[in-house]
Amino acid sequence: MEASGRGVMDLFDLSGRVAVVTGASSGLGAGVARALAGGGAIVGLVARRRDRLEELADQTGGAAFACDLLDPDAVDAVVPAVAAALGPPTILVNAAGGIEGGHLAEHETPEHVERALQLNLVAPFRLSQAVFPHLRDAGGGAIVHVSSISGRVGIPGIPQASYAAAKAGLSGLTVELAVQWARHSIRVNTVAPGFFRSEITESLYTEERGSAWLRRNTLLPVEGQVDDVVGAVLWLVSDAGRYTTGQTVVVDGGWTAR
Ligand SMILES: NC(=O)c1ccc[n+]([C@@H]2O[C@H](COP(=O)([O-])OP(=O)(O)OC[C@H]3O[C@@H](n4cnc5c(N)ncnc54)[C@H](OP(=O)(O)O)[C@@H]3O)[C@@H](O)[C@H]2O)c1
Repeated sequence: MEASGRGVMDLFDLSGRVAVVTGASSGLGAGVARALAGGGAIVGLVARRRDRLEELADQTGGAAFACDLLDPDAVDAVVPAVAAALGPPTILVNAAGGIEGGHLAEHETPEHVERALQLNLVAPFRLSQAVFPHLRDAGGGAIVHVSSISGRVGIPGIPQASYAAAKAGLSGLTVELAVQWARHSIRVNTVAPGFFRSEITESLYTEERGSAWLRRNTLLPVEGQVDDVVGAVLWLVSDAGRYTTGQTVVVDGGWTAR
């Protein structure tokens, strides 16, 4: 029991809160959207595949906002659309992201680098700027970026320089926004997952060589799943994380502990 008389599990209650979750058409973003809706939030679901978003919206009571985060104008239109349809958001989870290709660093073109930065770093920054006035006016709120352990350690065998740079950039963005916005009770954190099974990593898990490599490098003897990462996001967006800001929380089954 808290001093306030609330039960500790009530700290995860998100009733009445409006959230924006990017990457909600699959994998971690979809898992986070379900968890937030399960906690009582109304969730604006953002990604390109409208059919998937609408299906999830039907199941969770949220709403779909189809958007290509590589298009800066579309990014800037998302939060106003969510606020108009669902009310002002006080939670933002930037889960959309991806690696293109697997090009060696010396072969990455400027366009490739730009796309990686736009999707994985610039769009989360722009969306954070867009939700800021709503969080400030509400007296507080929470932003969680989803980065990757590849923003922290190199991953031999899977070339990803621009992706790694963008993901590391989210941790820099996190500490700076946390410092600038703490006085408005806005918390900003990053969750850095290790490998877990999703559409982008599926082939690793289905090939024996890939899955043996994952087992060899992950301390815990389990295959990472979306739900293994969702809990950290839920903690950080809810009152359970109310004294945590400016952090990059690694959730990787022990990959980076060696
Ligand atoms: N799986 C892992 O092992 C792993 C490890 C470390 C970090 N991560 C990070 O975790 C996050 C979630 O990844 P995941 O594994 O759940 O992968 P996923 O299932 O492939 O999900 C990626 C999401 O990003 C969205 N997205 C991609 N490009 C987009 C674009 N241009 N505009 C709008 N949305 C876009 C996709 O939706 P649409 O295709 O519908 O647009 C999808 O919803 C990503 O940020 C990823 O970098 C994953």
